Amino acid sequence: MKKRQYTIGTLAAVVLTLVVVTGCQRDPNSAGYEYMPDMYRSPAIEAYVDFGMDPFHFGDSLAVAQRNTPSARKPVEGTIPFSFDPNKVHLRMPYHIPNTPEGYEMAVALKNPLKIDEAALERGKVVYDKFCQHCHGKKGKGDGAVVVKGNHPAPGAYDGSLKDLPEGQIFHSITYGKGVMGQHASQISKEDRWKVTAYVQKLQGKSLGEDAPADDTENEETE
Ligand code: HEC
Repeated sequence: MKKRQYTIGTLAAVVLTLVVVTGCQRDPNSAGYEYMPDMYRSPAIEAYVDFGMDPFHFGDSLAVAQRNTPSARKPVEGTIPFSFDPNKVHLRMPYHIPNTPEGYEMAVALKNPLKIDEAALERGKVVYDKFCQHCHGKKGKGDGAVVVKGNHPAPGAYDGSLKDLPEGQIFHSITYGKGVMGQHASQISKEDRWKVTAYVQKLQGKSLGEDAPADDTENEETE
């Protein structure tokens, strides 16, 4: 009887040691073996993560596949976001000018479709302060903290080398980026991009309405 207990004890010790040893893995990011994955993995679907595939459980190739398989799908091509306001539907349409040198030239003719008033300029400033001033500087002199402290290449001053840049090209460059400046189309809505364009014009030294913004009703062509 005693011997039997001894054997069971030894067996238990061996199994425990095996569990402890195999529980550790080389990859410091690995949680190790999961004996009951359902208890660790939330069934909630997370955007951009293909839920259900535990990378450490099934091997590396699947981990890679998982990272490249978003659960949130991109919108179907050709669809536009819904707008409650019929006057703003045109702002949901895709930007029609391509990101090419010819497109940049075409953008010269592009006009701001919004009526720019003080409220729109104020919104433009909010967007500018959040997305632009760390590079372009508070007053658009090209002396933002990222340039001064971070050694990022400096943009020209809005009231200097960029003084005569037309609004269409300002909008175009915000949308697609320019040189070392990245694109902002995915972060800033079209409406806000036009408002920040107007704010950049203010920093260029233009006064409100100088470019005679198009009336809200005749903007189908201009975006
Ligand atoms: C990471 C720093 C950075 C950020 C953020 C940034 N810019 Fe720029 N921007 C630059 C640089 C650098 C240039 C000069 C690019 C070149 O000509 O190579 C530039 C160029 C421009 C130009 C001139 C484009 C042209 O057609 O010559 C405009 C207008 C402009 N930026 C507006 C903005 C606005 C508005 C924002 C915010 C929505 C913004 N930028 C955010 C760095 C930045």
